[in-house]
Parts: sequence; C-alpha cells; structure tokens
Amino acid sequence: MRMYDLIMKKRNNETLTEEEIRFMIDNYTKGNIPDYQMSAFTMAVYFNKMNADETLALTMAMAESGDMLDLSSISGIKVDKHSTGGVGDKTSLALIPMVAALGVCTAKMSGRGLGHTGGTIDKLESFDGFNTAISTEQFINQVNRIGIAIMGQTADIAPADKKLYALRDVTATVDNMSLIASSIMSKKLAAGADAIVLDVKCGSGAFMKSEEDAIALAKEMVTIGTGAGRKTTAIISDMDQPLGNAIGNALEVKEAIDTLKGHGPKDFSELCMTLGAHMVVAGNKAATLEEATDQLKEVISNGKALDKLAEFIQAQGGNPEQVYHPELLPCASLCEEILAEEEGYIYSVQCDEIGICSLILGGGRETKESIIDLSVGFILHKKKGDFVSKGESLATVYANDSDKLIQAKTRFLKAYHISSKQPIATPFIKAIIS
Ligand code: URA
Repeated sequence: MRMYDLIMKKRNNETLTEEEIRFMIDNYTKGNIPDYQMSAFTMAVYFNKMNADETLALTMAMAESGDMLDLSSISGIKVDKHSTGGVGDKTSLALIPMVAALGVCTAKMSGRGLGHTGGTIDKLESFDGFNTAISTEQFINQVNRIGIAIMGQTADIAPADKKLYALRDVTATVDNMSLIASSIMSKKLAAGADAIVLDVKCGSGAFMKSEEDAIALAKEMVTIGTGAGRKTTAIISDMDQPLGNAIGNALEVKEAIDTLKGHGPKDFSELCMTLGAHMVVAGNKAATLEEATDQLKEVISNGKALDKLAEFIQAQGGNPEQVYHPELLPCASLCEEILAEEEGYIYSVQCDEIGICSLILGGGRETKESIIDLSVGFILHKKKGDFVSKGESLATVYANDSDKLIQAKTRFLKAYHISSKQPIATPFIKAIIS
C-alpha cells in the first residue's frame, strides 16, 4: 500500500477502506508518512468529505494509536462528558459533582487548551494545591472511592490525533465535520467510558456558528460513539452569548459553586440539569429524565452536590475550604464597571469578542507557554434581551493591569449591540440527539 495512492483515491472522491485508513494512521503516527502527504490527504478530505464508515474507521485508528484506558476495575457504568467549548464554559465544575452525588462515576481526562480562558484543568487550579498530574492508578482508585477524578490529558491518549490536529491547525483543514468528529471522539473512546454525553455549542462563541452545522456535528459524533459500542447523546445549546455570567477562571469556579448551591444563572443551571439528567439515566441511576431531574434538584437543595465538589477538591490535594468560602479563591486587584453608552435592549453580543477581551486581561493562553492569570475576567450584568439604561453597568471587569483593563473594556463595549428593538427570544437548548 502507498500513501500516494490513498491521497489520489480521496482526491478522486472515492471511498477508502478500513484497512487503508488504518495503514495511513499507523504509519503517520510512526513517522513513516511525512506531514506534506498527510496535509494533501486532509485537504482532499476537506473538499470531498468522508462517509460514516470512513469516519468511524479513522476514529478507531486514531483512538487505538496509543493507550486505550481500561476502566473495568471501576465498578458500575462510567459516564464521560465532553464540551466542544465556548466562552464562560465552566460546565464540568458543577455538572460532575452533581451527578457524582447520585453515584454516577466520571473518570475524566481534561485539557488546558489555548483560548480565551483556560480549560477545566486550569480552572480547577484556582483551588490552592489542586493536582491534576496524578497516576492512572490513583485516578482509578479515586473514582472507585468518591465517583470523580479529573486528570490532565497524557501524551499516550490518541497520539495520532495530537499530531494530525496540530497539522490541520496550520493547513486550514480544521473545520471539516468528519475530521472534527473523529478527532474529538478518538480521545473520548480511548478514555474508556461506557457512555458519553456531548455538550455541543453553537453560535458566535462556538466552533460551529450555525445550528445546522452544530446538529450535523452532533449527529456525526453520536453515530461514531454508537458505532463504537458506547451509549452516546449530544445536547446542542446556545453559545451566541457567554454561558452564565462569569468569564475567567476563578470567577467561573465561583459561579459553579453558586450553581451547586442552587443560585446559578438560568442558562447555566438549565444546561447542567439537562446534561446531568442524561448522565444520570446513562449511568442507570434513574429510569427517566424526569426522575433524574428530581434527583439532581434534591442533591442541590440538600447540599450533597456541593459537598461532593469539596470531597473531590480535597482528594486531589486542593483546599476544600475554598468551596465553602469562595472569597478565598484568587481575586484581582482592580475592578471596574463597564457602563452602557446608550439605552435600549441588548440585541446581540459578539460572544467570541468577549472571549478575546478575557484573553487580553490574561485569562487565557495565546501560546502553549503563556501563564494564565486565574483571577481576571468579567461578570456580566446584562444579557441578550435585557433592557439597559444609559450609564447602567453592563458588566464588571476584574484585572491586574490597568492598561489591559482599558483595552479590554473598550473592546468589550463594541461587542454589545444595543438597539431600540427587542431581539426575538430563542430556546437555549436547541436540540438533543441520541
Ligand atoms: N477539538 C478537537 O479535539 N478536535 C478538533 O478537530 C476540533 C476541536
């Protein structure tokens, strides 16, 4: 078999066999296929696409290119969740303790990531001493003991995807549905869970800008998960404005804590409840979504979900006192209100721009080497559809550098579009695919 022939086949819009895809991925991982040939292949896929069988074969080959985590020593059904990412996305921090309080086990590998705020791992590092560099043995023992463990992604999980994703990033071939779906799902399948709940975002702050594309991506990922024998569900939600009110690492941790106390913002609470109900049913802890929702409300009102977060933070070396006293979390030295320059309805929010404002403050990473400032960010006081008077606060900005504060504030104001017209309200949860 020759890579040249496989490139030509895809260039001519023909279908590759499982054997051909496996040959290509195995040899690319080993370094036998050079980047220039792989780039030509991904560009051919970009234009000619892959069918469902090819996408599944690509996913499995990438998943099996490194370690496949064996979670069989954890009793019960292991349920994982994955978010396609967005601005203010702190979902795992509240959701996983909620479902763990009901006995649903989650052994999650998480990333740091580039972008406007850190990944889940960075956010968790807002707790003094929290350690995600734990061994696989410790990871598994902890899930058996308390139902939750979150560790940093190791290099051995889907190394083919790591190499291919980096290549796609510099060859303008990231945004192809099959390549995105196989990239995400290869890591999820290698991480070993029995069931997967996918949190797919759509809108100006998400990868998928339109609802149609988000649904297509969700369907593709659900087909892969199901084809690989894992119960998979996807929930598509709005990311046309930031999720919840907090953007920034420690600020998002505080909002997740509020949500576990039952005082979270409406959209974020709704998302946690919807994803949570699906995770609880997938974990066989409730027969119906209604029953699961009632159980989730119960662990929030009786404090068990909050206690589970504290137990998890302590198990990984963090300070559980900060769960009960969030004022002990990192706090910025400067704080200012961003005042509306005119009156009217918030017609739209350029969500990705708000993300960039957080990056300007130092809340995210521009390069892999950047050091994140955990304390900076925004708390939004007005969201889409709200009325604002001239001079009223749209948001509070938290910063540690006055130049960055001014820059972020100026850009933030441009991301809020105020109009005399009220926008048409659209549902927050757009679709559920299972
Ligand atoms: N996230 C991934 O892990 N892979 C992609 O291709 C896109 C987003």
